[in-house]
Amino acid sequence: MHHISSTLGVPEATYVPRHVAIIMDGNGRWATQRHLPRVAGHSRGLDAVRAVVEACAARGVQYLTLFAFSSENWRRPADEVSFLMRLFMTALRREVVKMHANNIRVRVVGDLARFSPRIQQLIADAEARTAGNTGLTVTIAANYGGRWDLLQAMRKMLQRSPMLDPEAVDESVLAPHLAMAYAPEPDLFIRTGGEQRISNFLLWQLAYSELYFTEVFWPDFDAAELDKAFASYRQRERRFGRTSAQVVAPSGLSGTA
Ligand code: IPE
Ligand code: IPE
Ligand code: MG
Repeated sequence: MHHISSTLGVPEATYVPRHVAIIMDGNGRWATQRHLPRVAGHSRGLDAVRAVVEACAARGVQYLTLFAFSSENWRRPADEVSFLMRLFMTALRREVVKMHANNIRVRVVGDLARFSPRIQQLIADAEARTAGNTGLTVTIAANYGGRWDLLQAMRKMLQRSPMLDPEAVDESVLAPHLAMAYAPEPDLFIRTGGEQRISNFLLWQLAYSELYFTEVFWPDFDAAELDKAFASYRQRERRFGRTSAQVVAPSGLSGTA
């Protein structure tokens, strides 16, 4: 892999996070607070997506990953699930056109086989159409689960080399099969809506991500809220296992080899 793993090496800490991963939570509570049906919160959530995509592109973020639907969200009432599927289709039709015009590359990760053929086709079209874009890469995690990702990676790894020696399995053998192998690990993880948990998001990749939790419900999250998260991120000392003195000293003098 061309990106440095946070456990095999020490990634460069940049002023602007290169990869921001967000759990967009709190849509339902946002709506309930306003005596609106929960799905109204999902619709407003799409407006927030637009604002945050734009803000990340303007700030020079290279990868933005948005958790849109988890492998456990199928447990919700059928009418909420079908509303989310329709909203996903609308977004794939309308938003992708705008993103393409803004040089944004769109990727979708998750177990896509569970989606309707129409949605699968829209996903394939969106990815193909924007594949050559060189700006921000927006990844939508849909029917995604961190455990699913690790399991599908192990399956692919073994299909590729069925006689694989267990002793030969290390990060560099497994990680290329993860759904987001094309991206560096998230520098900054954001969860809106007040809960402080990972909810089966990127389990492998969040190993050394800086975690930021805010009470703000996702429909209210905007560029100003993103800047608060970035300000918090800039104050973190990313040690990756080293001591503070080693981080402050110029690399090469600190004996990191
Ligand atoms: C996040 O908002 C959106 C999805 C999971 C699709 P929620 O729908 O979970 O909102 P709350 O947590 O119930 O407020
Ligand atoms: C996580 O939110 C998934 C997404 C935002 C898509 P949930 O609202 O589903 O998470 P839990 O159930 O509160 O952990
Ligand atoms: Mg929720």
